[in-house]
Amino acid sequence: MMKKDRANFGSKMGVILASAGSAVGLGNIWRFPYETGNHGGAAFILIYLGCIILLGLPIMIAEFLIGRHSRANTAGAFQILAPGTHWRWIGRMGVLAGLLILSYYSVVAGWTLEYITEAVSNSFAGKSPNDFVVSFQSFSTNPWRPILWLTVFLLATHFIIVKGVEKGIEKSSKIMMPMLFILLLILVACSVTLPGAKRGIEFLLKPDFNKVDSSVFLGAMGQAFFSLSLGMGCLCTYASYFSKDTNLTKTAFSVGIIDTIIAILAGFIIFPAAFSVGIQPDAGPSLIFITLPNVFQQAFSGIPALAYLFSVLFYVLLAVAALTSTISLHEVVTAYLHEEFHFTRGKAARIVTGSCIFFGIFCSLSLGVAKGYTLFGLGLFDLFDFVTAKIMLPIGGLFISVFTGWYLDKKIVWEEVSNSGSLRMPAYKLFIFILKFIAPIAISFIFINELGLLR
Ligand code: PFF
Repeated sequence: MMKKDRANFGSKMGVILASAGSAVGLGNIWRFPYETGNHGGAAFILIYLGCIILLGLPIMIAEFLIGRHSRANTAGAFQILAPGTHWRWIGRMGVLAGLLILSYYSVVAGWTLEYITEAVSNSFAGKSPNDFVVSFQSFSTNPWRPILWLTVFLLATHFIIVKGVEKGIEKSSKIMMPMLFILLLILVACSVTLPGAKRGIEFLLKPDFNKVDSSVFLGAMGQAFFSLSLGMGCLCTYASYFSKDTNLTKTAFSVGIIDTIIAILAGFIIFPAAFSVGIQPDAGPSLIFITLPNVFQQAFSGIPALAYLFSVLFYVLLAVAALTSTISLHEVVTAYLHEEFHFTRGKAARIVTGSCIFFGIFCSLSLGVAKGYTLFGLGLFDLFDFVTAKIMLPIGGLFISVFTGWYLDKKIVWEEVSNSGSLRMPAYKLFIFILKFIAPIAISFIFINELGLLR
């Protein structure tokens, strides 16, 4: 049933933009800076870049080829390529990871909506850096408002998901992604010229390897998987909508490069600004919400109209970047329920939206009134983040590389990456070598290292 009635992305550009739309999101602009800040700056970034090149790109190509060849949702894909085996559990774990990520991701996505309303009502004007810290604290720990916004955000995602693949996902990505990129460039220029910004630039460029411990490796690997939307079959699901002549390798490189540039740009906005106003780089998840309003106020202090315009535009684009990612997360779970359990797409989507609102509420409360309730020392929000980004996605990536490198028929792999021999693939052998040996060994090594078994 799956082959005939599947939608396709309309154009090559659409393919890249929709995949990049999934990759680029809060992971780049919100999570990357705070992970970088928590793990000491430049050394973390170098290890992160290593993870993108060595693990991210090959595993992304592997996910693409699994999805396009099977033309099914992620769990179905393993079922088709490895019928009657346990490989389908990799797909199922991915679906679960998607649901968990969507639940807590929507909380932060909801915060962007609150900040849009604040920007529109000009309530950043005249505030001091400390005021921004206080107002973020009081908003994020409020029991109602964040829940309201997370619900609105999930309903918007729901609406686009039920409208279908091409009309919803592709169109929104095509306009908003380039706009976001231009705005980030402008903000970098503003941020690096703030007084005292130099220390922030040094923080990003001068590695201090004394700060590198096992958690830096785990953090960098988790961030690479999270940011590229890897390890949970998201790009595999998107690739099931690719056409036969999409160049998988080129698409993976384009997505990887766009995603990395946006994350680095975000770093160059946040850290110079944070150092400039004396906010600690390890302020955690609140980092962008307390530093950025300062950038708008200070960089355009003489021209309030520009401060207003840029702050509104920034939060709108951030919300859109988050939306193209929540759509992709939602699509993984919806496609799974629709194709495996034969629910209508509408019903599948309603189940996903309802469950994520439910879990999202508890994630949100875990940052405020329910702060005291922890499991393994973490509140629900942090627990969902840790379990998905630092455990489930890398394990998914490990198995995807083993599956493609060792299990899958090499004829299928070659046909998919070379488009049946019509593309030149000079690094094909290296690609297989990475999937067979380097990626599985590197991921296992990072896990074992984190468990402290190497010391
Ligand atoms: N890559 C997205 C981001 O950086 O915001 C988050 C994400 C989307 C993670 C889709 C995983 C995923 F499957």
